[in-house]
Amino acid sequence: MQQLIRGRVLSFHADPADTADNHHYWPDGAILIEGGRITAVGDYADLRAAHPGLDAALQIDHRPHLILPGFIDPHIHFPQVQVIASWGAQLLEWLNTYTFPEEARFADPAHAARMADAFLDQLTAHGTTTACAFASVHPQSVEALFTAAEARNMAIIAGKVMMDRNAPESVLDTAQQGYDDSAALIARWHGKGRARYAITPRFAITSTPEQLAATQALVAAHPDCHVQTHMSENLEEIALTLSLYPLARDYLDIYESYGLLGPNLLLGHCIHLEPREIARMAESGSRAIFCPTSNLFIGSGLYDARAVREAGIVAGVATDVGGGSSYSMLTTLNEGYKVMQLKGQNLHPFAAFHWMTRGNALALRMEDRIGTLEPGTDADLVVLDSRATPAMALRMERATTLAEELFVLQIMGDDRAVAQTYVAGKAMKA
Ligand code: GUN
Ligand code: ZN
Repeated sequence: MQQLIRGRVLSFHADPADTADNHHYWPDGAILIEGGRITAVGDYADLRAAHPGLDAALQIDHRPHLILPGFIDPHIHFPQVQVIASWGAQLLEWLNTYTFPEEARFADPAHAARMADAFLDQLTAHGTTTACAFASVHPQSVEALFTAAEARNMAIIAGKVMMDRNAPESVLDTAQQGYDDSAALIARWHGKGRARYAITPRFAITSTPEQLAATQALVAAHPDCHVQTHMSENLEEIALTLSLYPLARDYLDIYESYGLLGPNLLLGHCIHLEPREIARMAESGSRAIFCPTSNLFIGSGLYDARAVREAGIVAGVATDVGGGSSYSMLTTLNEGYKVMQLKGQNLHPFAAFHWMTRGNALALRMEDRIGTLEPGTDADLVVLDSRATPAMALRMERATTLAEELFVLQIMGDDRAVAQTYVAGKAMKA
């Protein structure tokens, strides 16, 4: 069955920070979809002429809205859907007071299943079609998330957090249990449909050296899995981490000494980096993930996007819900813009929209499947209404360029601006 989706179509093929030839924009464009994949993209009239037999009933007209590749969120915590908006604490206190007790509830498969559905519904309501998610320590939480993602045919990357110290018993595993549970989940889910597994040591504070050694063995046995963790988010966290690993030269050196560096490693936050860490991240291809709403909300600090970029590190940008305060990648890039302003840096709207689509696909090494509208890739799309609210409509009266319109969406937009979301060609909103 073929489907033709019409609107103002925009897709990036290069990073606007690198080159002026970075996007295609079709003011009256269309995307042809078959079997959940994009088979053609271009001018509506051209596609229509090339496919005269197309059933009119299978055409969906989203004009005057913009159609882009679905947003990608490369760092988010699925068991924190009821932690978001928890008051008054910085990282370590926030984890102990709010986060660990809430994650303990995911031992219950019924709770995990209900939250998994709600979580994925929130993602697609906000235009996000792929996320790389931390689950809780309980394998049943990963099971629930992948089951819900499979029902939606969503490309979700996820893993159970491995944590064997410095947290309540109810959210701890052991080095061996963490290894065994992760290995079983990889066997069951990694590469099944659109699911991919991320090996997930939470961070060095909650993993003993034995657990990081087990992580190293797991990565060696499954080299095509992602590895996700946290690094250099908060000054108190860094001091405690270095006291727990006294032989480490710096925070990164802990992960480095267990062989975890490389292009599959996603390091959440990376705010307070040492020059050696920046150099080693660049050399090894390890990814930095900028989490602006979280870094501001938990009071962690101002990420230095320019330093990371100029070093040649590939970076993603993510919500980090529930430390993050919004599921919206638009809101995330709104706050990202402000963080960069405070650093004396600029974030052009083209760069912001590239980042939340193709840029995050590059960070996840999934650009052959998601993040663009290239024929052959998966038909994950977001449809944006830049006049979704009266305030946006008013501002749009004075917008004359595509860049201005994108900036209005970035600064004023959220889920209200998401008119529709397609996952593998299927509309997710009623
Ligand atoms: N560091 C370790 N765990 C977490 C978490 O759940 N959220 C954030 N923001 N940082 C962390
Ligand atoms: Zn996080």
